[in-house]
Amino acid sequence: SRTLKLAVIPGDGIGPEVIAEAVKVLDVVAPSADLVIEKTQFSLGADRYLATGDVLSEEDLTAIASHEAILLGAVGGKPGDPRIPAGIIERGLLLKLRFSLDHYVNLRPTTIFPGVVSPLANPGDVDFVVVREGTEGPYVGNGGALRQGTPYEIANELSVNTAHGVERVVRYAFELAAKRDRKKLTLVHKTNVLVNAGSLWSRIVDAVAAEYPQVSVDYLHIDAATIFFVTDPARFDVIVTDNLFGDILTDLAAAISGGIGLAASGNINPTNAFPSMFEPVHGSAPDIAGQQKADPTAAILSVGLLLEHFGYAEAAARINDAVATDLSERGSAPRRTSEIGDAIVARLS
Ligand code: NAD
Ligand code: IPM
Ligand code: MN
Repeated sequence: SRTLKLAVIPGDGIGPEVIAEAVKVLDVVAPSADLVIEKTQFSLGADRYLATGDVLSEEDLTAIASHEAILLGAVGGKPGDPRIPAGIIERGLLLKLRFSLDHYVNLRPTTIFPGVVSPLANPGDVDFVVVREGTEGPYVGNGGALRQGTPYEIANELSVNTAHGVERVVRYAFELAAKRDRKKLTLVHKTNVLVNAGSLWSRIVDAVAAEYPQVSVDYLHIDAATIFFVTDPARFDVIVTDNLFGDILTDLAAAISGGIGLAASGNINPTNAFPSMFEPVHGSAPDIAGQQKADPTAAILSVGLLLEHFGYAEAAARINDAVATDLSERGSAPRRTSEIGDAIVARLS
């Protein structure tokens, strides 16, 4: 059997609740893949910050990086909590992990499982993957404020886009598109306004497209893309886009596919130089935290992405099937977080 060293970061709010269920599922599935999961828990997030003032030390980072993969629930406090400076957890912990571990592919698949009710009356056959760039764009923290607090204040956030950074994520997206049935790739950007970054993204997509003649390529401005996410989401196959557009688009993707509680993601370092990190798309949901109201499905599907990443396609498919069956038989009566996890585990045992 193979041993996989997994760092587990349950985090804040509903994070620990959904991770408990995801770990149950992983523990049930791993033996069938002849896999031994060696877990290390890391207590990080807003609660830890409030208790100790620490966000993520170099020692924490080194310890996490010594694992082969990371499973994260969610981190962050209640937006606007005066005790927690804005962004300190998001930038200092979550983005710090994504940047330090070079998670340049943020993989966010969307499908409407059978029986799941979409808020769209006629969504069609939705099955697409957003390949969101994960280490650049407006997320780099390369900005600043001048004359803060005065009427002359200027607040800047610079979007960094490098040829290297754009090319590697675009290549990943083409590789993925080439493996899928429809072999279609859509670049989403705002080339009509963000002309410098837009030009770089467009030229790189055009250049890489020449190497993938089997992949058909199109382009949408981000604003128009949001229209089609609502009017015709079935048109999409692989979408490649920058960090911020990808963030927004994938909450919308989650909403049309039946809710944020179903949306899984992987922060991937395709070179495996660093551990990849798997997490639900959602946050710590302070509004429902501690009440067993959160849907753990996104966290459970994120475990599926983790197994897929390591080549355990069969184990990943078993999780997907168990989730699909659970979703198709899910009535309208609310279930507790642990009841959903238990039901999925029961299908797997
Ligand atoms: P959120 O995703 O936490 O919540 C948005 C809405 O979705 C809320 O109404 C919440 O109850 C609901 N929701 C989220 N997950 C759910 C689930 N599994 N089941 C059922 N309902 C669910 O977004 P937010 O309110 O903007 O952010 C809250 C905190 O989480 C902030 O501190 C934010 O920075 C952080 N955040 C962290 C991550 C992460 O760790 N990856 C992602 C997004 C937001
Ligand atoms: C996400 C979250 C993060 C992001 C925040 C919490 C930094 O919204 O994973 O989608 O913007 O990437
Ligand atoms: Mn987001």
